[in-house]
Parts: sequence; structure tokens; C-alpha cells
Amino acid sequence: MLYTKIIGTGGYLPPRIVSNNDLAAQLAEQGLETSDQWITERTGIRQRHLAERGVTSSQLATQAARRALSDAGIEASDIDLIIVATSTPDHIFPSTACLVQNELGISGGAAFDVQAVCSGFVYALTTADALIKAGVASKALVIGAEVFSTILDWNDRGTCVLFGDGAGAVVLSASSEPGILAAQLKADGSQNGILCTAGNVSYGEVVGDPFLRMDGQAVFKFAVNALTQSAQDVASKAQIDLSEIDWMVPHQANVRIINFIGRKLGMPTDKIVITLDKHANTSAASVPLALDAARKDGRIKAGDTVLMQGVGGGFTWGSVLARM
Ligand code: UT7
Repeated sequence: MLYTKIIGTGGYLPPRIVSNNDLAAQLAEQGLETSDQWITERTGIRQRHLAERGVTSSQLATQAARRALSDAGIEASDIDLIIVATSTPDHIFPSTACLVQNELGISGGAAFDVQAVCSGFVYALTTADALIKAGVASKALVIGAEVFSTILDWNDRGTCVLFGDGAGAVVLSASSEPGILAAQLKADGSQNGILCTAGNVSYGEVVGDPFLRMDGQAVFKFAVNALTQSAQDVASKAQIDLSEIDWMVPHQANVRIINFIGRKLGMPTDKIVITLDKHANTSAASVPLALDAARKDGRIKAGDTVLMQGVGGGFTWGSVLARM
């Protein structure tokens, strides 16, 4: 039987760190009131990394990919599939994945982007897993990369304090041992308006709203219910009990959402990886960045069972259960 194994991880954050206090001071100059206390109490976020103007998702993705390849101990030339999850691609086309492939100095393998917003990484990981199990690819780079700062309305304090920029990557390999144990992907397009950037470029002009808009409370409720159910579904699909899961690596949007889900699932807080205090919400990059952080600090070890979850615009959500 052919399985898919995660053999390396890597993360990259742009160097500029903006604390809640820095951001509050910046917004005050624009006449907008916020505070470290509000942001920390409502979300758990304390700081975010923001890319300089002109820095692109493919640049962040390439850095994360190089680190993941080095962690896996393989060469870029071994890769025959690249999937980049992003909602902030460099261009309309070609895909960010093709740009990353070029930056890595390789060609010939498949490369494409996945657009599922903050669920993008679990969508991309599940797609790569399926392609490996089908024998279409044998070594894959799956990357979540975002420069969300480019689509934030910096005059909307309800959203601009929540997000950050960054990229996380994993290297997957076909393997005779498991690997990715089970996955579930879900969408409900009827909820497309609760979290969206509904603009477009058409006939040479930006048409519609180019900024991220969110009904925060609707997203909050949807996320808690959808991810709790999805965790139960994926564990039952893999025929394991939730108590056998060593680590939960959830999408890093709000620590209150994560804690609600953890409580509903009976998951102790010390088994839940949290990076949103340092990274804020990096959308498709949040799960691979958190996975990498917990591997590098020694928490997640070989053999551990890890539940990764994403949720975001679309509305989309999903879970991947993997043995490291
Ligand atoms: O990655 C995709 C997934 N995204 C998410 O999961 C986000 C989900 N939603 C959330 O995390 C929360 O709903 C938020 C953090 C966005 C908002 O928290 P909330 O507890 O739902 O607050 P709220 O929207 O009900 O706002 C409460 C108050 C409002 O003032 P009034 O109307 O009570 O006077 C807001 O205007 O807080 C005000 N407010 C702020 N105050 C200070 C909103 N943003 C800010 C701010 N600083 N940055």
C-alpha cells in the first residue's frame, strides 16, 4: 500500500515585527482607536510580521520551501509536484507555484495554486496526498504563502489588526508507512459573503471591493461548529479515538475559537499548538507555520499523530490527520 509521509517542514516570516502597541499607535494617527488590551483579549494576537511593500507570496514561499527541503534532506530537483495555497498570488497568472518552481531552479513537475483562503493548506495537502497515492507524483512541496497585508483595509480596525504575512511549507514523500491517515474537505458556498475580498481586475480596472471584509461573529460561530464536527469525522474515518491524537495544529485565527473547539473535543490545552500570538492570522500559511514551529522546538516528534485544521472564506473548512 502506498502512503504519503511528511518528511520535512519549513517556515519563513518577513523580518518586520509589528506589535499591537505599534499598530495601535499607527492607527491612532489615522484617527482609529484600538489597543493591545482589546486585540489580546479578543483574539490572543500580540504581534504580526508584515512584509515590506513589493514583497510577494512567491518570495516568501520560496524561502519556506528551501527550509523544508533542507529539513527533509532532499534536493529541489527531487520534487515532482508543487502546490501553493494562497489568496494573495503574485499575479492572476501564471500561478505562484510556477514562480516558486522557477526560483527553485527546477522544471518539468506539476505546479499549481489552490484557492481556499485560510483552509488552503489543508486543501493543498489533501490534493497532494491524493496525487501521491494515485502515483502521479512521488515527492511534493505543499506551501501556504500569503501577503495578506496587501488586501487589508488599514482603515478598518475590525480586520486590519487580525492578520500577518508569512509562508509555511511541507515536503511530502510516497512511503510504504503511514503517513497521512485521513482527510476531510468541506465547503458551503452559500456563506461566500461572510468572509471575502470580492474585487476583481477587469478591462484594466479594479472592479468591486479590493479589501478583505468579514462578519467576525458569523465566522466565529461557523468555525467552532464546522471544525469540531470535522475533527470528529476525520478521527472516525481513521478509526482512532480523539484521545489518541498527540497534537492539534489548528488554523491560527483566534485563540478563543481554538479553545472552544479544544474544550468541545476534550483536547488538553497543552496538546494544542498556538502561534497566533506571534504570527497573527497568516491565512493559508498559518497551519504549516505552526506545524514547523512545533517540530523545530521539539514538541512534535516522529511517530506523533497530528490533527491539522483549516477554516476560512468560501466558506471552506477541512481536517488532515497525519502520523509524523
Ligand atoms: O481566518 C479566517 C477566520 N477568521 C476568523 O476566525 C475571525 C473570527 N472572528 C473573530 O475572531 C472575532 O469575531 C473578532 C476578533 C473579529 C471580533 O471579536 P468580537 O468579540 O466578535 O467583537 P465584535 O466584532 O463584536 O466587536 C466588539 C466591539 C465593537 O464595538 P461596539 O459596537 O461594541 O461599540 C467593535 O466596534 O469592539 C469594537 N472593535 C474594536 N475595538 C478596538 C472592533 N475592532 C476593534 C479593535 N479595537 N481593533
